[in-house]
Amino acid sequence: MCGIVGYIGHEQAAPILLDGLERLEYRGYDSAGIAVLSPEQGLQVKKAKGRLKVLKALVDDGKAVEGTLGIGHTRWATHGQPNDVNSHPHLSQDRSVAVVHNGIIENYVEIKEFLMGEGVQFRSETDTEVVAQLLEYHYKQTGDIMQAVYRVLHRIEGAYALGILCADLPDAFIAARKDAPLLLGYGEGCSFIASDVTAIIRHTREVSYMEDGEVAVVRADGIRVYNALGQSVEKEHSFIDWDVSAAEKGGYAHFMFKEIMEQPDAVRKTISPRLRDRRVVFDELKITPEEIRRMQRIVIVACGSSYHVGMVGKYNLERLLRRPVEAMLASEFRYCDPLVDENTLVIVISQSGETLDTMAALRQAKALGARILSIVNVVGSSIARESDEVLYTWAGPEIAVATTKAYSTQLVLLNMLGLYMGDILGSVQPAEYARIVEELQALPAKMEEVLENTERIKYLASRYFNHSSIFFIGRNLDYALGLEGSLKLKEISYIHCEAYAAGELKHGTISLIEDGTLVVALCTYAPLFDKSLSNIVEVKARGADLVALTDDSHKDELRKTVENVLSIPDTHTIFKPSLGVIPLQIFSYYMALQRGCDIDKPRNLAKSVTVE
Ligand code: F6R
Repeated sequence: MCGIVGYIGHEQAAPILLDGLERLEYRGYDSAGIAVLSPEQGLQVKKAKGRLKVLKALVDDGKAVEGTLGIGHTRWATHGQPNDVNSHPHLSQDRSVAVVHNGIIENYVEIKEFLMGEGVQFRSETDTEVVAQLLEYHYKQTGDIMQAVYRVLHRIEGAYALGILCADLPDAFIAARKDAPLLLGYGEGCSFIASDVTAIIRHTREVSYMEDGEVAVVRADGIRVYNALGQSVEKEHSFIDWDVSAAEKGGYAHFMFKEIMEQPDAVRKTISPRLRDRRVVFDELKITPEEIRRMQRIVIVACGSSYHVGMVGKYNLERLLRRPVEAMLASEFRYCDPLVDENTLVIVISQSGETLDTMAALRQAKALGARILSIVNVVGSSIARESDEVLYTWAGPEIAVATTKAYSTQLVLLNMLGLYMGDILGSVQPAEYARIVEELQALPAKMEEVLENTERIKYLASRYFNHSSIFFIGRNLDYALGLEGSLKLKEISYIHCEAYAAGELKHGTISLIEDGTLVVALCTYAPLFDKSLSNIVEVKARGADLVALTDDSHKDELRKTVENVLSIPDTHTIFKPSLGVIPLQIFSYYMALQRGCDIDKPRNLAKSVTVE
């Protein structure tokens, strides 16, 4: 989704802004722009629809725009078409103010009408332009840009991360935040803002995270932060310790493939600090065993792939805890008057930690008294900061829009949490506990084994990439796995596909099966292998082409019915989806590759979904 970067220092700003925007490309965008201020040329704004290379060509890689302070933006359209005019930065009418914005100004229509009544002419269809125009309006009234900023923030409703350049302020720019991520970066003789640390990590690793209501005045020699009342605030500085190369392709054609291959390592990093003497330990949790025992219900709230992790969690945690576990889409949870209270543990899952629907669900659950435990990848993200408890997944930066390693680390962490709680509740017996820990330790190596066998999957993709409709079927954990396999395939290959609980086929969907329809049958859940086999026979009898996935113990039996059988190593039932998802990710990748799709940046999608 939209990205922001800002720089002030002694070097030319434009190349630094363009480089920062390039690092934010993975978030998904449809246009980009920069605003740079210089004493000679004043406030210069350059923006262009399309990929960043269009903007780069327009400004000769930054050389055509002089100045040592500036702000940049990649836009993912919400209000108004993706085009040059609607791109950010937006200038006020007299060109005294330039604004970049992430989020949505909910009352922009009302403000726009007010300003138009005052004779202001708007150029774009965006909600953001009202911020620039309203700033100019108040600036003219007060003659003080900070006062104008506070008046604007008081008036606008919605979510925002803002970067503001003022032509009369040659040695600073301003940043503000509410419900949209924004961080401050401290360099040597220079300062930064960014919506995501990847944009500035080349220049500094020392950052602080802005809180809701804060306003920052960013200068080359330091940053001053003020709260909503205008009082000065001391910010805690954090140090980003991950390697820059983690955010680069490292010889792979696509980030997605690199991230698929990184999964064993990411899972290892997630597991190892929390496994001591064959026991799961969560030093970071404050919740006491007594409090865990009090939790009568567990609700898992998330979106997209993170929700699919929650679906696996529903089956696994119910099995391990013998307590009701519900997985809910955050976008539904927020509006369903949810039944949660102080005896409910709400597990919030989010890779980015910034997904707006998930954040809203978290706040609602918290207001209802629930205990919030989040599973998050991005340290210091909004969801992490607002939760009672946080378990970080340590997957490192995930750049491809379609998640792979974040999904896998979420999955393993949720299983570990289930094991930990099951031990406290006494619902997991010692022998079972020991068996699960043993499989947990073996999991990264088994994932590596799956990753060694990609040739057959590549061949299957070359055979089926022209299909226009694909069904994933499975029961229990395989159904949850199918949801993720199907999402992965549709988001990067643009093939229509659906996941069904195999037992549901006969209640309607089987009418869609005809000669040559591709059905991906998931049969890794051993207790229901025979039932799944019956479903395979049913679709085969109606002409379906089949690709089936099972474990090593069942592959020979499955081969008697299905020609294309993929298999994963045997493991404990709860870890089947952790191994099973890998062939599905690889299948999606090669299908998309064959179809010439933009794998790392699929159309219409954004990495961090900060709008409703
Ligand atoms: C799909 C994907 C999305 C995200 C969803 C939630 O590959 O990545 O479905 O899972 O947008 O995002 P997070 O996990 O950041 O809250």
